[in-house]
Amino acid sequence: MLYKKRFEVGFDDSQSKSSRDRKNEFKPKEHAMSDNSRTVSLVRNLREQFRSAVNSTIRKRLVVCFLGLVTLGTGSAIADVYLHNLFPFFNFNGFSGTYSSAGSVDLSGPFFQSLGTNGRTCETCHQPSDAFGLSAVNAQLRYFFTRGKDPLFAQFDGSTCPTGPINNSLVLNNGLIRIPLTVPPNTTDSLPPQFTITAVQDPYGCALTTDAQGQQIVSVYRRPLPTTNLGFLSAMMFDGRESFSLPLNKAQTFGANLNSDLTQQAIDATMGHAQGTQPPTAAQLSQIVSFELALNSAQLFDFAAGSLSKKANGGAEYLSTQPYYPGINDSLGADPGGEGFNPNAFTIYTSFENSRNPKQASIARGEQIFNTQPLTISNVPGLTTGTQQIMGTCTTCHDTFNVGNHSFPLPLDIGTSRSLIYETDPNIIAGLQQLQAPTLPVFELACTQGPLAGTSYYTTDPGKALISGQCSDIGRGKGLILRGLSARAPYFHNGVAANLQQVVNFYNHRFQIGLTQQQMQDLINFLEAL
Ligand code: HEC
Ligand code: HEC
Repeated sequence: MLYKKRFEVGFDDSQSKSSRDRKNEFKPKEHAMSDNSRTVSLVRNLREQFRSAVNSTIRKRLVVCFLGLVTLGTGSAIADVYLHNLFPFFNFNGFSGTYSSAGSVDLSGPFFQSLGTNGRTCETCHQPSDAFGLSAVNAQLRYFFTRGKDPLFAQFDGSTCPTGPINNSLVLNNGLIRIPLTVPPNTTDSLPPQFTITAVQDPYGCALTTDAQGQQIVSVYRRPLPTTNLGFLSAMMFDGRESFSLPLNKAQTFGANLNSDLTQQAIDATMGHAQGTQPPTAAQLSQIVSFELALNSAQLFDFAAGSLSKKANGGAEYLSTQPYYPGINDSLGADPGGEGFNPNAFTIYTSFENSRNPKQASIARGEQIFNTQPLTISNVPGLTTGTQQIMGTCTTCHDTFNVGNHSFPLPLDIGTSRSLIYETDPNIIAGLQQLQAPTLPVFELACTQGPLAGTSYYTTDPGKALISGQCSDIGRGKGLILRGLSARAPYFHNGVAANLQQVVNFYNHRFQIGLTQQQMQDLINFLEAL
């Protein structure tokens, strides 16, 4: 059995050769919070997370598992550079893991190497322990163990602003990375945008800046999207900007476009996040892309339900066999295979239905609720117009079989980037009130051209509109993949939901579902087991 070069539950970096090198390269200037107050709040935060995550009957078991893992981890000094398939990583609900079609997860390739100037690697933000995303707890532990020196906290985009005092609060509390985007759109469309943009709330002082060429730069803050399960994508990046010119919308072109998009994405990540001076070589790029494409990640084991793949089809290995093409099971009837929409998009836990294990039975009920519970969907730009209401289910938008992203590139605005201060829709307000939103800049987009001219929108993230320049795209982003959720809290593109309880509370109010306490718990248990 092959082990990882280092092995902690996500608070990585202290022992790896490459990260030691990195640390020498990157020296942050100062921190917004003193180490002391940071430590106290970190410990409190962790304790709270721990408490809310576990009920007393399983707490003991969890502690034992955790200690076991840590002991095992520190004991395995035999540094190696592979992670065997389905290597388990601890999280608050159980263990997640990754299955690579390459046979093991090779931790030595360019994905794990510093290709830029600030010591960062792709792994800095895409952690194997977090289903190749980044949990806020992971960021907090790394801050704690490296005293804020991990390259994750590089000022360029790991701080709220690229200049001025370093403030890592958004990455620490919400796992958010600053994404600087240029207005007007610098993609294929050479027309000016249909809107003018101003920052009506600018808490950090860099919401809207002007670069040397006189172009406006908007700072939005987003969660690293997992670099796993990528074979199921229909859009790349929250706003689809990396799949804008080579879309992931047709089976015939899917493989080739996915490859090109991932290649361009790796170049952009190196030049951006890693502040590279030159793109990776062609060989490095192709290694990164084939590494990423081989991966599938999911929750493997639940503390109360046990193995999720033994008597059911959870886990990462089964996921890797799941067929997919863009548009599969499209809820709006555009499945190119001509198949009608099947709302039962998730079927991995049907075999748990009559289980005597109460947690297994609850997960199975949660899956049913996800597939069939009626939702009143209204005011979702991209899906509904005006005061239109449609009856749907969670799977209306999360329609890809057993993966849960939207199989068609149709970005939507479900309201997660609206601002409570400016919002007028009572359902969106009720939904947002369930969340623990961080302080983010708020932009006003005043439409001057096109069919929506004369209208103004308020949002913390203009979404696809910053790529297309179209007013009809304001606030719209892709429907996310729902596997490996337990490994990478918080949720939604801007980390506004601290946990899955908040996600479910949001939807319950947002789409007037009327779930009972039991139904909510079932749904949460199901999401935690993905
Ligand atoms: C500083 C953190 C950071 C680093 C370093 C980083 N990424 Fe990311 N990555 C992100 C964020 C944030 C997003 C989401 C951005 C968005 O949606 O606009 C993302 C998105 C992605 C996606 C899109 C996934 C999807 O579902 O659309 C891929 C692929 C990806 N990154 C690969 C890489 C690779 C390859 C590298 C190394 C060359 C890398 N990343 C380095 C933060 C990072
Ligand atoms: C109208 C379409 C729509 C419906 C209905 C819908 N979702 Fe979503 N869901 C989305 C979109 C779009 C996102 C991404 C939003 C964002 O990141 O801000 C999302 C994100 C999520 C996420 C966060 C994933 C992550 O990685 O952060 C979870 C969990 C989720 N949905 C669960 C559900 C559940 C459970 C239901 C049913 C109660 C549901 N969704 C119904 C469109 C929808």
